[in-house]
Amino acid sequence: MDKFVIHGGRPLKGKVVINGAKNAALPMLAASLLTSEPITYHCVPALQDIITIKRLLSDLGVIFSGSDPLTAQAAEITSCHAPYELVRTMRASILVLGPLVARVGKAVVSLPGGCAIGARPVDLHLKGLTQMGAEIRLKRGYIHAEARQLKGTEIYLDIPTVTGTENLMMAACLAKGETIIRNAACEPEVEALAKMLKQMGAEIEGEGTDILRIKGVEVLHGTECTIIPDRIEAGTYMVAAGITGGEIYLKNCCLEHMAAVVDKLQQAGLIIEKKGAEVKVKAPAVIKSTDITTLPYPGFPTDMQAQFMALMCLGDGVSVITEKIFENRFMHVLELKRLGADIKIDGPRAVVKGVKELLGAPVMATDLRASASLVLAGLAAKGTTEVLRIYHLDRGYVSMEEKLKALGADIERVPA
Ligand code: EPZ
Repeated sequence: MDKFVIHGGRPLKGKVVINGAKNAALPMLAASLLTSEPITYHCVPALQDIITIKRLLSDLGVIFSGSDPLTAQAAEITSCHAPYELVRTMRASILVLGPLVARVGKAVVSLPGGCAIGARPVDLHLKGLTQMGAEIRLKRGYIHAEARQLKGTEIYLDIPTVTGTENLMMAACLAKGETIIRNAACEPEVEALAKMLKQMGAEIEGEGTDILRIKGVEVLHGTECTIIPDRIEAGTYMVAAGITGGEIYLKNCCLEHMAAVVDKLQQAGLIIEKKGAEVKVKAPAVIKSTDITTLPYPGFPTDMQAQFMALMCLGDGVSVITEKIFENRFMHVLELKRLGADIKIDGPRAVVKGVKELLGAPVMATDLRASASLVLAGLAAKGTTEVLRIYHLDRGYVSMEEKLKALGADIERVPA
């Protein structure tokens, strides 16, 4: 298992290109199951999770060619079984459930199980499919779903689940009649999936809002699409500039998708402004302690909580960070404290008292965004920080160490 060795204290300077969004690419690739025609994808990020979903989709009958652009074609579905071995490594595998039931009327998908950040049930995915007429049975850790023909219906989501919305929207595209999904997720990645489905012939209204109306059609055809920029990768590099006292320029960054993050980073003192096709991010002399609460989009994204906390460790006062999406997304706190951070957890709140400096130490990554938080803190810490188990990081960040090195960081990937 590789580790990062970071010698901190160097301000980052230069340009960084943001990749396509992992959380847009995953549902959009799953959507290839909905048609027998080829789909061509541009700006697919070279990530471990993309490799995983391509493996899963290939097992179901999708034929891939190329890498960027990447072409996928499910001329026929050769299996409807998503095995535990794959699903347990990537929960987003659940995204094949809706498309399989819609395309071939059957799916046997392993329950994802929990992960480091929470139980992460899929009950709302199953409730919605049941309401659309699927027969769902849970047996020995697997979801068995069957439906001769899904029927349009009205679905209310108790929680605006992102992949739940995506699964049900994809299923509804081939259902008989109209499906209305209320309290739907509004994330840009959901909107991007809807845009792609409409290019394939789906009839969808309301994408980007909390009410989706999908009129089922007989068949969907192929299309060509481009993955939107990764707003979480962009936010991570913005924090990297802010925490190291640097000044960087982001390319392929969509500020429209990042209003909450930009607002909070600006409150913390960062200068963030569009400069032509790039976004300039300049660190403040003093990081202002700022409170955040994570909320569904357009609120502050939970996927930026750990990274923002790293920045607050060097704030000029006290920052209260409230995590309202996942029940256990403070795994990075104990590791940040090993670097000298002053953080107290009180239920869903973490109270971060800014310290003068962080001191390098070995730390352990536990999940994707926690890993990013530890790298960011290591970039600012005095001395050497080793971040172990960075396979978590490789799931969601393309060549992070290369990009940081190009910005002047002293960071090496070392086989542990
Ligand atoms: C998506 O996960 C993202 N993953 C996550 O990104 C992100 O953190 C999350 O949305 C929230 O924004 C992908 O898009 C592939 P949810 P998802 O269903 O869809 C509860 C990353 O770092 N819930 O919106 O799994 C759930 O427990 C990853 O890139 C139910 O109770 O998240 C959680 O508390 C991590 N029942 C809340 O809803 C359900 O059926 C939000 O979960 C579904 C969800």
